[in-house]
Amino acid sequence: MQTDRPRVLLVDDELGTIEVIGAVLEHQGLTVTLARSTREAIRLLRTTPFEAVVSDVVFEGNSEGGAVLAACRELQPEAAVLLMTGYPAVDGAVAAIKNGAIDYLQKPIDPVVLAATLHRAINRRAITSESLDYQDLVNILSNMVAQTIERVDPYTAGHGERTRKYCKTIAVKLGLDRHTTERLELAAIAHDYGKIYLDDLTFLTKKGPLTQKEYREVQRHPGLGAEKLGDSPHLTEVCRYVAEHHEKWDGTGYPDRKRGDEISPAGRILGVVEVFDSLSTKRSYKEPWGLPKTLDFFEAQSGRAFDPEVLEVFLPLLEVHGEDWLRAPERDIGAAGLAVQG
Ligand SMILES: [Fe+2]
Repeated sequence: MQTDRPRVLLVDDELGTIEVIGAVLEHQGLTVTLARSTREAIRLLRTTPFEAVVSDVVFEGNSEGGAVLAACRELQPEAAVLLMTGYPAVDGAVAAIKNGAIDYLQKPIDPVVLAATLHRAINRRAITSESLDYQDLVNILSNMVAQTIERVDPYTAGHGERTRKYCKTIAVKLGLDRHTTERLELAAIAHDYGKIYLDDLTFLTKKGPLTQKEYREVQRHPGLGAEKLGDSPHLTEVCRYVAEHHEKWDGTGYPDRKRGDEISPAGRILGVVEVFDSLSTKRSYKEPWGLPKTLDFFEAQSGRAFDPEVLEVFLPLLEVHGEDWLRAPERDIGAAGLAVQG
């Protein structure tokens, strides 16, 4: 479960309206708390932090939206506030925006548009916030990179984030130092970044296996990713791991056919995890693998495609978390609002 979903307080006395909007916002990656009165909203603002607040301006005939806005400015000045109104009211909109609301939306609200507006506002606030620390910045940028990759291939929803989590778990168990582990996490998020620079993107979502020509084209993505991530000295190791994520321990991988120790330890971890997460993702031409088949495959590939030392750590983790991890892609694809291809 993701813990870094932005929290949104949704305030309206029309229960049906906020339940529907709330459900869509949840679906769009936000964690929603509902409040049916100004009083309840203010009580929640005193106790729970929110990244954004969406409030109706009229409650049971009284104009109280301003009170929610004022309470927000006082109690949670960092939160983005959007007001909703049933009537077109330019004066009210101007006043609300002067008082710190970021927008004034007219009902009926399109919840998908509202979600996009909230995500934009929250990201903008996070970037300009004085309290932004390094880890927040990494998470924001990681999210952007992941969303960019998922845009060209929506069925990879969550692949980067899952890869990051599994890589970190293995790296910690293997005793990799923090510096390397952090760079491995970034590489895990960005490992397929090169895909967006391929000349032909259509086959990424093609229903069926790739032709030889398409496979040759797709083999360019590790190198392209490393190149396009840029030449910041901070990213040197990240670029190396990205470039290595399809190399194999026995030298049968691509693009450079590196083998054994020629591949960095982080690159070897990423190689194992990348294959695991791909096997667990259902595509039109293949079912996700079950745990016994997955365990057999990795055991058989120890010392062949994969570094035995990495598998010594990974296989026991699979015994414990395998069932859950194998179901994760379907959950993430569902959460992204996509039907699983079949
Ligand atoms: Fe890849």
